[in-house]
Amino acid sequence: MAAYDYETHEFDCIVVGAGGSGLRATLGMAEQGLRTACITKVFPTRSHTVAAQGGIAASLGNMGPDHWQWHMYDTVKGSDWLGDTDAMEYLAREAPAAVYELEHYGVPFSRTETGRIYQRPFGGHTTEFGEGPPVQRTCAAADRTGHAILHTLYGQSLKHDAEFYIEYFAIDLIMAEDGTCQGILAWSLEDGSLHVFNAKMTVLATGGYGRAYFSATSAHTCTGDGGGMAARAGLPLQDMEFVQFHPTGIYGSGCLITEGARGEGGYLTNSEGDRFMERYAPTYKDLASRDVVSRCMTMEIREGRGVGAEKDHIHLHLNHLPPETLAERLPGISESARIFAGVDLTREPIPVLPTVHYNMGGVPTNYWGEVLNPASDDPDRIAPGIMAVGEAGCASVHGANRLGSNSLIDLVVFGRAAAIRAGEVVDRTGGNPALNMASVDAALDRFDRFRHADGAVPTAELRLDMQRTMQSDAAVFRTSKILSEGVENMRRVASRMDDIQVSDRSLVWNSDLMETLELDNLMANALATIVSAEARKESRGAHAHEDYPERDDDEWRKHTLAWVEDGGVRLDYRPVRLDPLTEESDGGIELKRIAPKARVY
Ligand code: FUM
Repeated sequence: MAAYDYETHEFDCIVVGAGGSGLRATLGMAEQGLRTACITKVFPTRSHTVAAQGGIAASLGNMGPDHWQWHMYDTVKGSDWLGDTDAMEYLAREAPAAVYELEHYGVPFSRTETGRIYQRPFGGHTTEFGEGPPVQRTCAAADRTGHAILHTLYGQSLKHDAEFYIEYFAIDLIMAEDGTCQGILAWSLEDGSLHVFNAKMTVLATGGYGRAYFSATSAHTCTGDGGGMAARAGLPLQDMEFVQFHPTGIYGSGCLITEGARGEGGYLTNSEGDRFMERYAPTYKDLASRDVVSRCMTMEIREGRGVGAEKDHIHLHLNHLPPETLAERLPGISESARIFAGVDLTREPIPVLPTVHYNMGGVPTNYWGEVLNPASDDPDRIAPGIMAVGEAGCASVHGANRLGSNSLIDLVVFGRAAAIRAGEVVDRTGGNPALNMASVDAALDRFDRFRHADGAVPTAELRLDMQRTMQSDAAVFRTSKILSEGVENMRRVASRMDDIQVSDRSLVWNSDLMETLELDNLMANALATIVSAEARKESRGAHAHEDYPERDDDEWRKHTLAWVEDGGVRLDYRPVRLDPLTEESDGGIELKRIAPKARVY
């Protein structure tokens, strides 16, 4: 057994991660007088939410008619009928209040001439239950909306008594024998000390795992740490096969060019100068849902109509827009295009390519953020003491495909929901139960094993192997052959973790060790993704299976559950929650509106 000194801290609630959902949960918990700590591996305002550009969806109706029910319908359709109906209603209904709350906290939203919050069109957001024109629903702070929200939430969190543990890396969950989560073991990167956080409620707000792929818009810190920890604690991951490719990553660097660019009037062309989206999605064209646009771009490239010397990408045009619009509404991407593509977007198109952007899957939760550990007789069984929010969780509000700008609203609506729920279920009077020392010791042992790993495979080499495998074998289009080869390839890659080489044994700012722990987390997420994808014999949302091109609701309208264990993955399924929160007779959505049908834009 590894011998390490560590400091023990007691809190009512701990939140792991300080992006939009983590900060909103932290703020909400501290506000209610719960003793709350936020533990984050990066400085809060460097969390990946800072990179969110285009905006946050809410049916404010500032630019024309809108309704929460239209937003809910679009989310249901965007999810390709895999989202949980209660969660999707909760999101759409709560969204306007959540945005006004942000406004009152101080988010510097862009404004209309009359001083209202400015809203732009985004893909898949429509009027009249998909029958009317695109709606301007996405509230924006120029093209730096995530930046504005993150800084505001951090400022607000500091007003309350939340404690921040910054540049602390979460190693593992501490689990009681009965399956209750009791907190985490964490490592202070700055001074090398170890810390056990004993909490009545642990919230995973660790973001996605985009870095399991070679080309992603995600920050290098997006390593699925929450999913990795949950998997090691015996909890399942849900719907991991659904990986979103954003249509407009800059060719080469993968840097994001916001969908807001098309919202403001930008359009895509192929090598013939053809605005091809008009052929594939005659009504909403470049503003179709992003899984649809990414597939159309890929088809154009595959059919030889890509641009550039290799004919392997597409052009995004903004050069027809007034320079004032670009300067006022899209200043950030003007800079990104110049730096990462060498393009002056007032004159030339930007070279773009579908790029991994978002994970619809994650740790399964209900719409309060409580983690689910389904049993055969109870698909909604709650795992005590643990929640997951934001991209780390799977509520499931995005189902098989997320609409652009539904991510930022997910962060604040469900971060707030988790805080409200914690206020109800956490007993703030009693002390914290004693920790399960066997679980603490197991976490220390694993940490020590990696610290002293002296195998033959450097972490960077294995990470690249994993990223290239995922990029080629779990891509925009999938086939049975590629997926089954991919499962074998990923098993081989993952097994090499046993031969990993860490050359730095120190504890202070040991980035070699930290990247190895991150790689182990990525590996669990990647394995669950490819095995879940190989099993799903249909096409739905972001999972486009060429051997099974149709959606199959009879067989496959169900959530995948993946347990990563013993170097392999065990699968099971749980039903999609079909009932909305509000009955039609009480003003809820008409059920016939959200019945499954063909998904066309
Ligand atoms: O295109 C974007 O600005 C990204 C937004 C999102 O993923 O929600």
